[in-house]
Amino acid sequence: MDICPRLESQSQVPLYLQLYQYFKEGIQTGDIPAFKRLPSIRELANDLHISKTTIQMAYQQLLAEGYIESRERSGYFVVEIERDPFGDFPNVPRPSADDMSHTLTSECLIDFYLSGIDTAYFPIQKWKACVNQSLSEEILTYGDKQGEPALRLEISQYLRRSRAVNCTADQIVIGSGTQTVMKLLSQLIGLNGQKIAMEDPGYGGVHHVFQGLGFEVVPVKLEDDGIHLEELETSGAEIVYITPSHQYPLGMVMPISKRVQLLRWAEENGGLIIEDDYDGEFRYHGKPIPSLQGLDAHGHVVYAGTFSKSLMPAIRMSYLVLPESLLKVYRENISQYDQTASRLHQAALQLFMENGEWERHIRRMRKIYQKKHDLLLETIKSVIGDHAKITGQNAGLHIAIQVNSEKSADELVSIAGQSGVKVYSTSAQWISKQKDDSSVILLGFGGLSEKQIVEGVEILHEVWQPFYKK
Ligand SMILES: Cc1ncc(COP(=O)(O)O)c(C=O)c1O
Repeated sequence: MDICPRLESQSQVPLYLQLYQYFKEGIQTGDIPAFKRLPSIRELANDLHISKTTIQMAYQQLLAEGYIESRERSGYFVVEIERDPFGDFPNVPRPSADDMSHTLTSECLIDFYLSGIDTAYFPIQKWKACVNQSLSEEILTYGDKQGEPALRLEISQYLRRSRAVNCTADQIVIGSGTQTVMKLLSQLIGLNGQKIAMEDPGYGGVHHVFQGLGFEVVPVKLEDDGIHLEELETSGAEIVYITPSHQYPLGMVMPISKRVQLLRWAEENGGLIIEDDYDGEFRYHGKPIPSLQGLDAHGHVVYAGTFSKSLMPAIRMSYLVLPESLLKVYRENISQYDQTASRLHQAALQLFMENGEWERHIRRMRKIYQKKHDLLLETIKSVIGDHAKITGQNAGLHIAIQVNSEKSADELVSIAGQSGVKVYSTSAQWISKQKDDSSVILLGFGGLSEKQIVEGVEILHEVWQPFYKK
């Protein structure tokens, strides 16, 4: 049988989707007749000069949709499809890459999504019990504007115990997500033409908020141990937003010596440090590093936390720990703003924490994520080897790798996408809008199974191999 699909390597539509579409149409029109044996994966990979994985993925999708069947030791065969006696299959327009990626089975797509969490281990029954228990007539009305006091108490105790944050429940302001609490913080700081320094690359979600509210955001470059202090000093900014426990997106951890230096900068300049500890619960190797806030004796740090990584993003529950000076501004000017997080979810979360479920969940997830983290690192080392340098490991739910390739990160992302593996570049996270030509690839592992992690890395190696630097 002649198989000559016209595959366009420059197309936005991944190669495996083009191949799948080619076979599907051929089977529907009868050009590829029923009971016909398809070429083996190896044969076709040789004929078309594309990877075996690409063909495997196209065949998998045809199998899933019932166009072909697999017979043990014989190969893949076209299934006889009953035809409409009055006509052929309708002439359906060709779907775009986006349409297709949504209709494909998830087995086909390995997405190293940076915000992925492992939902399989979420204790749904225990959560349901807390929701049920928390529901009562009293909580059907508006709650405390700063956040439910009992939840704030639980959070403050947890933060003191586990993150060495120095705080009481009074200092905590709850809000629906990090961007929401950053908007609130922006109001507390005021908009008098102030400059906010940010790590470059840094977290786009917060960058957009500051910029949209009229702050001048000043990019400050990164060193191996976090933000470049001399550049921060000359930037003229008095406020700095940082992610010291696991820099977003590159993943480095700021050592204690630099934390102390940064606090000295704040002390000498009357500066304010916004510490976003978005995934600080997950540290896998080495000693835990206390929060910056816990080292600060003079009220220069605002600590920000979220339940998105440690529990679930769907809950939209984040919070600020305000130093005394900003707490005063909050009480005088903002305390009449309504609470943005659901009172019902707050009450359920408070019970979940009070019953010890929250810390049990964190302990369990830390083990699970550590296993995935270690597996990802080991697989990269054994499969990709010297062609990639791992940079942002040992904490959080994503790592960064520097691929030793002549291709840019965006090109590598696109090549991987053609084979159904989604990885990420730092392009969208550059504050200075600098073009990312560093070949740094970001890989989130929280939402993937161990099998997907191994398969994903193997596919990446296979499709990137022709472009490694010699
Ligand atoms: C740096 C950083 N902060 C905070 C968050 C979480 O944001 P939210 O609380 O709005 O879910 C993320 C999520 O990826 C993040 O990367």
